[in-house]
Amino acid sequence: MSSRLNVMPPAGERAPLAVSVVRKAARTAKGQKVEIIAGLAFALRAGETAALIGPSGCGKTTLMRILAGLDGAFEGTVSRSANARVAMAFQEPRLLPWRSVEENVRLAAPESSLEERAALFAALGLSEHQAHYPGELSLGLARRASLARALAAKPDLLLLDEPFVSLDPPLARAIRADLARLIGEKRLSAVLVTHDVEDALDLADVIYVLSARPARIIGEVRIDSPRALPAAARAGLAAEVERLRALSTKPA
Ligand SMILES: Nc1ncnc2c1ncn2[C@@H]1O[C@H](COP(=O)(O)OP(=O)(O)OP(=O)(O)O)[C@@H](O)[C@H]1O
Ligand SMILES: [Mg+2]
Repeated sequence: MSSRLNVMPPAGERAPLAVSVVRKAARTAKGQKVEIIAGLAFALRAGETAALIGPSGCGKTTLMRILAGLDGAFEGTVSRSANARVAMAFQEPRLLPWRSVEENVRLAAPESSLEERAALFAALGLSEHQAHYPGELSLGLARRASLARALAAKPDLLLLDEPFVSLDPPLARAIRADLARLIGEKRLSAVLVTHDVEDALDLADVIYVLSARPARIIGEVRIDSPRALPAAARAGLAAEVERLRALSTKPA
C-alpha cells in the first residue's frame, strides 16, 4: 500500500485540496479484508465547500481521516497547499475529558484571542458552558464545543463529519447559517459529511454522492449560487441528489 501526502507550493487559485484515493482497505478483527474506498477522486477550489452524501458505512469517516492526514495507509494521493491549516470536527466529539470547554478550545488554538473565543462561544450558544467539563455536556453541546475548537484554529481547510447531528433543528439552522457566513467571509475551503440534503444545499458549492462501500463518487451536483438559492432551483437540486442517492443504495 502506498500513499503520499503532498504539499504543494501556495499558489493563487490552485486547488487547496486534491484527492485521489485509488484504494483503501482494512482488516476486521477476524482478519477479513474489507475494501472501504475504491477510486474516489475530487479537487476542491479555494473557498469552495464540498458536501459528501453517502449511505451509512460507505466510508465517509474513513475518507475524512485520510483527508486530515490521520490515516496514511491507503493507495493514492492527497495534496494540500503548503502551510494549509487543517481542522476537523469529528463525528464523535473528541474533547479532552479533564479540560473545560474553554480549555479544550484554547489548547487547540493557542493563538486565538479571548475576544475571538468569546465570539465563537456566543455564536455557538456555548457562553454559559465554557467552564463545564465534557462529562457535564449533552451530546449536542459537546458537538458545538467540538465545532468551536475546529473553528478557533482558523483553518484554511475545515473538515466536518456530520456536525449537526443531535442538535435541535433551530440551533442546527443557526449554526449552519453561522458556518455559511464564516466560510464565505474567510474564504475557507471545507469538506462536509452529511446525511441531510438541506445542510448540503445551505453550505456546499458541490455535492458528491457516494456509492455504498467501497465508496466512490457516483454523481456530483453543482450549486451555482449556494446560500442564495431560489426555492425552485433548490427543489430541483434536492431532487437530483435524491435520484443519485437512490442509485447509491443499489449494488454496483
Ligand atoms: N479499521 C477498520 N477495520 C475494519 N473495518 C473498518 C475499519 N474502519 C472502517 N471499517 C469499516 O469500513 C466501513 C466504512 O466505515 P466509515 O466509518 O468510514 O463509514 P461512514 O460512511 O462514515 O458511516 P456513517 O455514515 O455510519 O458514519 C464500515 O463498514 C466499517 O465497519
Ligand atoms: Mg461516519
